[in-house]
Amino acid sequence: MVRINAALATAGLFLTTTTAVSTQVASGFAASDGSISFALNIPQNDSNNDLYFSMQADASVSWMAIGMGNNKMDDTLMLMVYADSTGKNVTVSPRLSYGHTEPSYTKNVTIAVQPGSGISNGNMTVNAICSNCRSWKGGSIDPTNPTAKFIFAIGPDGSINSNSESANIKRHSTYGAFTMDLTKAVGAAQIPIIATSDSSGTIQTQDQTDHDFSPPLHACAMVLAFVGLMPAGVLILRVMKSPKWHGYNQALSAVLAVLGALLGIYAGTMYNRSRNWNSAHQIFGTFIIVALIGQFVLGFMHHRIYKQTQASTKLAPYHVWLGRVIIPAGIINGFLGFPLALNPKYNWALLALTLLMVVVFGPIMFWRWKRNANQSPPGNPSDSDGYQNQPWNAGPSSSNIDLGGYGQRDHPPQPINDPPPNYNYQIPTQGRDFV
Ligand code: HEM
Ligand code: HEM
Ligand SMILES: *[C@@H]1O[C@H](CO)[C@@H](O)[C@H](O)[C@H]1NC(C)=O
Ligand SMILES: *[C@@H]1O[C@H](CO)[C@@H](O)[C@H](O)[C@H]1NC(C)=O
Ligand SMILES: *[C@@H]1O[C@H](CO)[C@@H](O)[C@H](O)[C@H]1NC(C)=O
Ligand SMILES: *[C@@H]1O[C@H](CO)[C@@H](O)[C@H](O)[C@H]1NC(C)=O
Repeated sequence: MVRINAALATAGLFLTTTTAVSTQVASGFAASDGSISFALNIPQNDSNNDLYFSMQADASVSWMAIGMGNNKMDDTLMLMVYADSTGKNVTVSPRLSYGHTEPSYTKNVTIAVQPGSGISNGNMTVNAICSNCRSWKGGSIDPTNPTAKFIFAIGPDGSINSNSESANIKRHSTYGAFTMDLTKAVGAAQIPIIATSDSSGTIQTQDQTDHDFSPPLHACAMVLAFVGLMPAGVLILRVMKSPKWHGYNQALSAVLAVLGALLGIYAGTMYNRSRNWNSAHQIFGTFIIVALIGQFVLGFMHHRIYKQTQASTKLAPYHVWLGRVIIPAGIINGFLGFPLALNPKYNWALLALTLLMVVVFGPIMFWRWKRNANQSPPGNPSDSDGYQNQPWNAGPSSSNIDLGGYGQRDHPPQPINDPPPNYNYQIPTQGRDFV
């Protein structure tokens, strides 16, 4: 009521009726899907270039935003709102956008949050005054424009809980555009009340739901490759003793990982947190993918040479040990990926999958090792070199079927009774360099 009285006193000229809504000198917008509402007041004769606004969305959304100056993201000045560190009030972040990427905080604009703002009763509400807000690089607010362009968007469910004006955000779940008659918003300075419907002259022109598929697809491809297929490829070699299917399986997992990396590269272009390629996850991930391609080439070349000579090659130990490093490194990189994508909780799911993999594959490896240990007659070159059968040596390809037993042409395998630990095993000279 105080607000309305103030309006009556200072802007009496603009009043035509006595209902609460029409005492407002403001233009209002309420999205047709109910996702967001926005009202704007443009103070007359204002040397600060202020704008007064109110905005509201459901408290479940991680952020809400209105962009001014265009009907697409390019060149808009955005008023973005999300939960502050207490979760009870809001942080308002003015941001500039120049395309289909996360908008960046601008210092040129100052926003003062006013009473009535907060997160309560299922609503996220802000009343605020924005100073130096009527022109920016790429656009402006023209109070005489009857069809000024605006955009709106809300983020996916969640709570950002940050006091930082440059907090990281996820891509929108809903976005759209509208035009407003700004001539109807010009009057005495006043925070407008929350818009419950479009005011006259406001027309919504777009309403879209949106999904950011690339990060989750990237995550699925990578987890399937590094936690599922690649360890399975080790079993295929060690337990099924099939170098051929090991090769096919690891080729498939490498292709999946490379496609996944392409999705990751694309996802990284959209966000301020990753645009400069300076996150540990991206750097570490790049090394892993390069190593993986090297691993594939090593495995392939080994196979070709082996085909010709029917003997193991010098490449084998490199392939074996690189494989033993790449799989855990890839999984560790996944634990860096989820926090980067603002999904740190999913690390628990990744941990569960990794443990599941160990629990399922570990006993199979162990069982195979026991079986080999009991059955292999001493000195049988085809079954044990005292190296391949140990579960903790579960590399993808040190099996003597194909890759293992390198140098065994020159050095017949040692007779053994039980699989000896590595340090006892007298490996061939060229092998010792690597193992
Ligand atoms: C992390 C931040 C953001 C990212 C990565 C992002 C990315 C994108 C992408 C990729 C599109 C094209 C979607 C498609 O064609 O399927 C798009 C469209 C759109 N976005 Fe955003 N956006 C972000 C934030 C925002 C914000 C804060 C707003 C609103 C104030 C907004 C409003 C819009 C609108 C209205 C469109 C449709 C018009 C256009 O193509 O520009 N976006 N955005
Ligand atoms: C060249 C290599 C890689 C690049 C460039 C890359 C890039 C990225 C980027 C930019 C994100 C963040 C997306 C966002 O902010 O929304 C991300 C997320 C993620 N990455 Fe990678 N990544 C790579 C390799 C890997 C590897 C080897 C793994 C192994 C498992 C992995 C697993 C993940 C996971 C689980 C996420 C979280 C996705 C989500 O929560 O939606 N990435 N990656
Ligand atoms: C704004 O300025 C114009 C001309 O300078 C004047 O006619 C008008 O009364 C002023 N309005 C307010 C609300 O001060
Ligand atoms: C939120 O912050 C603003 C500005 O500091 C204040 O006026 C308002 O009362 C606060 N709201 C709540 C619910 O604490
Ligand atoms: C939340 O906002 C809506 C729309 O403005 C309104 O109808 C509702 O009463 C608000 N809820 C509360 C508890 O204030
Ligand atoms: C911020 O303001 C300065 C000085 O007014 C101007 O030169 C600069 O271009 C502005 N930056 C943006 C991003 O609008």
